Amino acid sequence: MYANGVRHFIDTNDFTKEELLDIVNLSLKIKKCIKEGYYPPLMKNKTLGMIFQQSSTRTRVSFETAMSQMGGHAQYLGPGMIQLGGHETIGDTGKVLSQLIDIVMSRVIAHQTVVDLAEACSIPVLNGMSDWNHPTQEIGDICTIVENLPRGKKLEDCKVVFAGDGTQVCASLGMICTKLGMKFVQYGPKGKWIQDNLEGLKALNPNGDYPDYIKIMEENCKVSGGSFEITDDREAVKGADFIYTDVWYGLYESEMSEEERIALFKDYQVNRELMQLGNIGCKFMHCLPATRGEDVTDEVADSDSSLCWDEAGNRLTAMRGLLVYFTQYQRENDTTDLRKEAVKEELEMFMDERGLI
Ligand code: CP
Repeated sequence: MYANGVRHFIDTNDFTKEELLDIVNLSLKIKKCIKEGYYPPLMKNKTLGMIFQQSSTRTRVSFETAMSQMGGHAQYLGPGMIQLGGHETIGDTGKVLSQLIDIVMSRVIAHQTVVDLAEACSIPVLNGMSDWNHPTQEIGDICTIVENLPRGKKLEDCKVVFAGDGTQVCASLGMICTKLGMKFVQYGPKGKWIQDNLEGLKALNPNGDYPDYIKIMEENCKVSGGSFEITDDREAVKGADFIYTDVWYGLYESEMSEEERIALFKDYQVNRELMQLGNIGCKFMHCLPATRGEDVTDEVADSDSSLCWDEAGNRLTAMRGLLVYFTQYQRENDTTDLRKEAVKEELEMFMDERGLI
């Protein structure tokens, strides 16, 4: 979305396929440079504010590391540390932060909070996860998939199966896969499909704006040629190139007892048998944290087929790309590509010298 002349990263659906791939490619280029020992100072003198209404390991650590690696500084604004939603409205907090820092990321409980923050800010706002979606996770996931494409396949040829609860990570994965023209399946129990969880969110937050996942994915597929299926039929797992999962307690931790949760989801656990339904070479992915022994077995999480550790590392890859993309060349009505060219030059001069491109 655009607000106050600035483009924000609230939802991957606000971006074209080409723009999303631009972010992925920029992220992977910066990764290559850093791997070779060159830390491009693209965030020099810039400050990121990191608002967290919930706890986080990967999102918090990767954003802060990304800023320090690229010459900038990050401020952790954890629960209770700022006036947001307490003595000060979200709008006023956004206006104040816009005077003090260069970019803000926010992990919120209700999606509307990050939308309201972006509407008030004249600096870019990155959504670090809400109850509706998790777009920064998805940029890292696509980086991981691009780095591990099955031999001879393009992104558009890949089938991604999400097994388990239709969490916001599941929905976000479905939205980006369909946007990029891939095949997406949610294999999960009826009542826990993404559209069911969306109804649950709307009931919990009647004033919140929760766009319809299914409509978005249908629109994406019309444009991209991708496909999606939501089913409890195990046959749909066959032919997967990537099998992905998330925790089973999702958005409503207190809703079910442990026994009920295990009874409902046990057939959807990612274990050796489920992985064997995928294509030869099928890879395992997980946004983490995992509940070992529930959503995934130790055997799969720690196997050679597991990408979940690389995927966690690619949160950092994605954060670097997103920070550069949104601070350097995403102002509305900015007709010059000068900043974009400068970033490209900064990275490509080094990559060229090292034979990386
Ligand atoms: N996957 C993810 O967002 O992890 P954190 O909650 O630890 O940030």
